[in-house]
Amino acid sequence: MNRRKLQGESDVDTAPLFPDLTPADKKKVRRYKRVSQSIWTEHKAKFIQKYLYFFVQVTHNGAYIDGFAGPQYHDQPDAWAAALVLESEPKWLRHIFLCELTKKGVRALEKLVAEQPEPRDRRGRKLYRNIEVWPGDFNVNVDAILATGKITQKEATFCLLDQRTFECHWATVKKLADYKTPPHNKIELLYFLGVGWLHRAFSGIRHVDTMRNWWGNDNWRSLKKETAFQIAETVRKRFEEELGYRHAAAYPIFDKQKGNRIMYYMIHASDHEEAPALMVRAHHQAVRALPKEVQNSLAF
Ligand SMILES: C[S@@+](CC[C@H](N)C(=O)[O-])C[C@H]1O[C@@H](n2cnc3c(N)ncnc32)[C@H](O)[C@@H]1O
Repeated sequence: MNRRKLQGESDVDTAPLFPDLTPADKKKVRRYKRVSQSIWTEHKAKFIQKYLYFFVQVTHNGAYIDGFAGPQYHDQPDAWAAALVLESEPKWLRHIFLCELTKKGVRALEKLVAEQPEPRDRRGRKLYRNIEVWPGDFNVNVDAILATGKITQKEATFCLLDQRTFECHWATVKKLADYKTPPHNKIELLYFLGVGWLHRAFSGIRHVDTMRNWWGNDNWRSLKKETAFQIAETVRKRFEEELGYRHAAAYPIFDKQKGNRIMYYMIHASDHEEAPALMVRAHHQAVRALPKEVQNSLAF
């Protein structure tokens, strides 16, 4: 197959971390700097926090939706994306929606929100910020969240879809992608594709409906024959070709405990010209923020 390699596909130690971007508009292909270190599960949340820091530096406000917001590890608040995003300064995100299915996750989110200090700027002036916890299935609640009208067409919006395997329905992704109409940029998405356990999950499927909802149709069956890298590329392309994003890139996330395996890809989809470059900067800073000994161990 004549296509570009995804990151980490082979030659792991020499492959560039960030993939070549294939914007829908070929005339405007831009090249972005690459980074040489890998993203690890341990600093995924830090990376998301850094990215949103750059995001608000560009937008000066914005909305944040976290569709699967409960903590993955209840004993590691430093690795919890929602917690890091809420504490991040400056507190310019104005509308925050935190969604979670389990009671335990909802309790953790409610506690987190209750602990937040009143948001203020550097001069101590109050800032507007509305945080809502939405208990229940995000695939259902997404309609109501968008229907509140709290996210206006103009408001820059970022949505984190940190699902484990098949929890996030394709219809949900599409609703988010279709919410904004031109000339406004689409809601920016960071979608997690759990390739590390995908093939095992395929063989354990008992409910075809789960797969149909996840993939959006029955074509998921053909994925069984594809490698994890091919699946990541297929999904990345869907964001550009089917959902119409100008930029979509797949970033592999490695797990050291599992022998440096790629556990999942973060698919970042955005209409904003600067977004891919901001991702690269966020990664640099997330790695730099780690203790020296951890930074060194991250290099292959
Ligand atoms: C991978 S964890 C999220 C990790 C989190 N972003 C972090 O930084 O630690 C996925 C979360 O989504 C929740 N979840 C699963 N299915 C869901 C659904 N349909 N709607 C909302 N939340 C769901 C799980 O209970 C879990 O708390």
